[in-house]
Parts: sequence; structure tokens; C-alpha cells
Amino acid sequence: MIGIKDKEDLEQIRLISKEQFNTLYQISKTLNSAVYESALINDTIDLVIKVINAERGLVVKYDETTKKFTIVAARNIQQETIEDISVFSSGILQKVIESKSPCLYHDVQSDPNVSQFESIQLHNIKSIIGVPVIRNDKIWGVILADSRLNRKEFTDENLIFLDFFSNLVSLALDKIIQLSELLDENLILKNLIESQKSIPELIGESPAMKNLAALIHKVAKTDATVLLLGESGTGKELVAKAIHKLSTRTDKPYLAQFCGSIPDTLLESELFGYKKGAFTGANTDKKGLFEVANNGTFFLDEIADISIALQAKLLRVLQNKEIIRLGDTQVIKIDVRVITATNKDLKQLSSEGKFREDLFYRLNVFPIKLPPLRERRGDIPLLTKYFVEKFSDKNIQVSLQAMKILEGYSWPGNVRQLENVLQRALILCDSNKLQPEHIVIEEESDDVDFNGTLREFEKLLLKKRLKEFDGNRTSTAKSLGVSVRWVQLKLKEMGEEL
Ligand SMILES: Nc1ncnc2c1ncn2[C@@H]1O[C@H](COP(=O)(O)OP(=O)(O)OP(=O)(O)O)[C@@H](O)[C@H]1O
Ligand SMILES: [Mg+2]
Repeated sequence: MIGIKDKEDLEQIRLISKEQFNTLYQISKTLNSAVYESALINDTIDLVIKVINAERGLVVKYDETTKKFTIVAARNIQQETIEDISVFSSGILQKVIESKSPCLYHDVQSDPNVSQFESIQLHNIKSIIGVPVIRNDKIWGVILADSRLNRKEFTDENLIFLDFFSNLVSLALDKIIQLSELLDENLILKNLIESQKSIPELIGESPAMKNLAALIHKVAKTDATVLLLGESGTGKELVAKAIHKLSTRTDKPYLAQFCGSIPDTLLESELFGYKKGAFTGANTDKKGLFEVANNGTFFLDEIADISIALQAKLLRVLQNKEIIRLGDTQVIKIDVRVITATNKDLKQLSSEGKFREDLFYRLNVFPIKLPPLRERRGDIPLLTKYFVEKFSDKNIQVSLQAMKILEGYSWPGNVRQLENVLQRALILCDSNKLQPEHIVIEEESDDVDFNGTLREFEKLLLKKRLKEFDGNRTSTAKSLGVSVRWVQLKLKEMGEEL
């Protein structure tokens, strides 16, 4: 075994051939390139194999705690990758690790110190050359080259070459490792920031809203079709806008179209546009909204209300990414991210034959359910503060009692209803504090569509209010203008009926 005693001695580089010197230069250039991929290490190993007349080359990483080696790159003379580390001599690898110095065996078969190693016998290896890769004064790994052929043996010159090569690898590793650590860290931090970045207009810090914000951030980055589900006033439109804003399409158009209670032909011409003369009144060609929204996002609100005929057309848009204007034959390619919303049960509608099942599946790629306000009452104070500041430039406080009422109500009209109630309260309030008398909650519907008796109506109303206040008898009584005792009595009276 021959070792290089004075590693620092750069003079040794004079001993290597011009060819090897050129190879080192080439390798240093490769390893120094801006992008590191494992393929680069493979390329350098191929060069090493060639220049030192080896048959196989190996770079392994050594784990000090487990005492195990893992392949960084392993190649044969045919420039093929070797996956199995056991075909190399682990005994020699171990020797390099233990001695922390390079080693060279001219004829391993006849060397009693190493010939007993199984892999050497098994693979009929003749010459082996190995050098440690040192990083921060520690052994990072080993570079090994071997040959079974009885041709040119490895030389001391090869050893010097390999030692220089090892230094280059070690330098490159520093960069590779640092870069990959930085890239990972960058990814993690980006993710962290994004998941914590709240969406400014979307007020709420309840777990339900945090969850919603996280989903919005995730889906915004993709081109997936989103289906927003939720009761009226929960913020579906707000979320659609937020998804667009956070997407890569943010600089491109965002368009919204309300699809409920609009005559079919009108909606169709709005969405797809028309050609001059397509119908009476079509005096010019007109672009449809899908075309206008090209490269951007298109929000179709109340999607459950569109006719079966339009559903078929919409399906075509989603499937083929193309539209045809009314009265035209020319196909227009479009790239639009579609977001739809409904407060109806589309699956149910499709099982009733009122909504195309295939379209439902196309729209339901990424459903997001918006929580009703009553399921996140904790957000009511925050929303109240937000709306009060939005609608009044005076510094108006909300009294505890007023807040109690707001927090106790079930808000069937969700955030929109709260917004309206507060807007009204601010008009009624002529001091700088909102009091309970300013909070006027009107029921969503004024129609009394009831044909039963007064007693039956009493029962029905009580049942409704109890549900709205989550069974809270005090709040129910307050909202009905009766005593808690009255509520209790009624409940007892109705007993099992309720
Ligand atoms: N989390 C929220 N933070 C602040 N404002 C909100 C929030 N959610 C909803 N809003 C406000 O409530 C109102 C209703 O929201 P939006 O129109 O988005 O609801 P929607 O779900 O589309 O309702 P609909 O089904 O009736 O169309 C809007 O003025 C919106 O700005
Ligand atoms: Mg809406």
C-alpha cells in the first residue's frame, strides 16, 4: 500500500500526466457549474474511470454512527450506473476509512492482507485504488476505482490524481450540500409563510377560517376547478376572488357571472358570445365572458341554476377548453380557470336528474365548504369590529350587551346579514357606542306562509328560535320577548312533541 504522506504538497501535481491534469481541469469545471445534479458526479466518475484505466468507479458517503456506506455515484466503464454497493469491496472501503489515507493495491489477489475479502474473490478484482473524501477534517466518504483486467495496473500517479480529484469532490460537496439545505429551507419557509399569511379581506381567526385560508392558499397555486359550497352570505364570492388573487393568474382578468334566475338564452350569449345575426338584435359580433376571461379566472356563481342545455355547453368548455360563439362554427381555444359556487346540494340534484352528473364531477375537483357563521361564533367580535370600522369613520365602540346579542344570534344570513345589521345599527346610533337597541335583527323572510293554528305557530316559532340559538333558553326567550320561565313552561307543555 502506498500513501501520499504530504497531501498539502501541490508539487505532486507535476507528477501526473498531462491527460490526467486536463481531466482534473475538466472535472473542476463540471463540479463548479451552477446547477448540481447527481448526473454531474456520474459524468466526473466516467472521466476518472477513463483516465486511470479503471473498470469501475465509486463515490460513497460514509455514516459514522451507523458505519454504513451509501452510493453517491457508481459507474462502470460502459458508463452505466451501478445500483448495488455489494459488488464493491467493503473491506477496502473500511480500510480507507480506518487509515484515513489513500490506498493502492496493484495485485489484490496475491496480497494476503486483502485477498480474503469476499467481494474481491467473487468479482475477481485485480487492482484497487481508494482515497478518502475529507470534509471539515472528517471523513465524508470514499472514492474507489477498481479493475479486474490484467492490463495496466494502477500507478502512484493515479493515486495522486485521485487524491486531487477527492479534494475537488469535497469542495463541490460543500456547495452541493449547502445549496440543497438552503433550497429545502427556502421551501419550508415559503410554505410556512404562505400557510400563515391570512387573506386580508377574509376576516376570521377561528380554526374553521384558518383551515379555509390554508385550503385557499393550497388550491390557488394550482389550476384546479374549485367548487365553493356554503350557505348564502358565507363569503363564497370573496373566496373566489382570493383564489384568483393568490394564483399565478393574478395579473390576468377575473370575471364573475351570476347564473341564478337569468333567462337561458341571455346567460348563454353572455358566457359564449355571439356572431352577428345569430339572433334578432345581434347586430355585431360579441365576445363571450369566457373569451374575455382568457388566461384568467372565471367565477360562475349559483351554478346549480343553469339549464341542462347550458350544462352540456359548460361541460364542453371544461373538457376541451374551447368555446363556439352562438351562431358561429369557429372553435376558439381558451385557457380559463373555472371557479363555481352554489348553496345547493349538487350531488342530490344530479341524482334527481336536475344536474348533469358528469358536469358535477368536473366541477367538484376541489370542493371547499365555507362554514356558516353560527359555527364560528368566535369570529363575530372580529367581524363586528371590521364592519364598524368599515362603515363609520367615527371611533365607535360596541357595548358588551350589544356584542352579547350579536354573538348569541344564529345568523341564518351569515356574514352578509351581520354586515347589514351593523350597517343599520350605525345609522341608528347617534352616540359613540352601539347599544342593544341599535341592533335590529329582521328575519330573513317577511312572508308568513303558515296555515295552522296560533298554538301550532307558537310551537313552530319556539322550535325555530331554539335551533337558531343552539338550544339556549335565555337567548331564545330574549329574542321572542318572553321570559325564560315562559319558554320552560311551553317546552314542558309540548313535552315529547318538541
Ligand atoms: N370572512 C369574511 N370577512 C369579511 N367579510 C366577509 C366574510 N365573509 C363574507 N363577507 C362579506 O359578506 C358579504 C357576503 O359575502 P359573499 O357575497 O362573498 O357571500 P356568498 O357566499 O357569495 O353569498 P351568496 O350565496 O348569497 O351569493 C360580502 O359583503 C362579503 O364582503
Ligand atoms: Mg355570492
